[in-house]
Amino acid sequence: MLILGIETSCDETGIALLDAHRGLLAHALHSQASLHAEYGGVVPELASRDHIRRTLPLLRQVLDQAGAQASQITGVAYTAGPGLMGALMVGASVARSLAWSWGVPSLGIHHMEGHLLAPMLEPAPPAAPFVALLVSGGHTMLVKVSRIGCYTMLGETLDDAVGEAFDKTALLLGLGYPGGPALARMAESGDPERFRFPRPMTDRPGLDFSFSGVKTHAIQIWRSAGPDARADIARAFEEAVVDTLRIKCQRALQASGLRTLVVAGGVGANRRLRTALQAMAARHRARVYFPRPEFCTDNGAMIAYAGLLRIQGGQTDGLGIQARARWRLDELPPLERP
Ligand code: KG4
Ligand code: ZN
Repeated sequence: MLILGIETSCDETGIALLDAHRGLLAHALHSQASLHAEYGGVVPELASRDHIRRTLPLLRQVLDQAGAQASQITGVAYTAGPGLMGALMVGASVARSLAWSWGVPSLGIHHMEGHLLAPMLEPAPPAAPFVALLVSGGHTMLVKVSRIGCYTMLGETLDDAVGEAFDKTALLLGLGYPGGPALARMAESGDPERFRFPRPMTDRPGLDFSFSGVKTHAIQIWRSAGPDARADIARAFEEAVVDTLRIKCQRALQASGLRTLVVAGGVGANRRLRTALQAMAARHRARVYFPRPEFCTDNGAMIAYAGLLRIQGGQTDGLGIQARARWRLDELPPLERP
């Protein structure tokens, strides 16, 4: 089985070819970051139009890289949500049309299931049951994965997602958009002792998150301390966010009695977060798994992987196109046991 994966839920066009036996054959990504930078955020209409321009050329590139023919593809998986409606519709309509013309099945994939499964593309993948921390630009969640395809929500953010808080704080510090990685770089030279930011919702029980307060705290310090404090603010912000995530992950492992933690989504590429979670896991005799940083952020490979599991399990869409701006992860149909 050879699955084509198409990711277009936000501002990255990701295409990948995944073979059931040979693994990932090729993948390609086009980031629209420079297109949206001058607006300080993603402009949905520009995103949709750019996905239209990029999808087929990237598909040709990936076929060339893999030395494969379109006629060898046996299924098409695309991100059906959650995400920007117009952007999702581009991937869905291209995927559905290709699948129809090739006479193969297609399936709409939940973007966050894609993220959650990204560590499965690594050489030593985790095995369920595990706790997953999903940290992206649009979502922050702790999920209990009793088996692949069966997800129970343990905690979610009540306001901003972690990536969103990184991006908004980075914009405040004049680091452009999307500023998560730039803020992390700037934090390297910051003084960790100068400011202490709050660790929201860690002083009460529960696994939900709230990140808008950390961002507001950054605004207040920025106003009083000024641009000279930029690196110190970046460092204090990053320390607070990482510490909060570490506390909640530790709590989720203890509450569930599980010893395996999986971390995925764009913020999973953050070095300080990776180090902090590794140290916490070691202290609790647990193991933590991350995708390579390239597969933490949006990509087609994770969508192809989720598609492979579900199409192999007999799930396919009809001829209609599916796209959902909102879609709960715990509403997904279960996967048959292999
Ligand atoms: O998963 P992703 O590519 O897209 C969504 O599904 O939202 O995540 C993108 C988010 C952005 O907010 C970006 O700033 C953040 O991940 N991000 C980072 C890092 N790399 C990406 N945040 C902090 N540190 C990083 N190294
Ligand atoms: Zn994502």
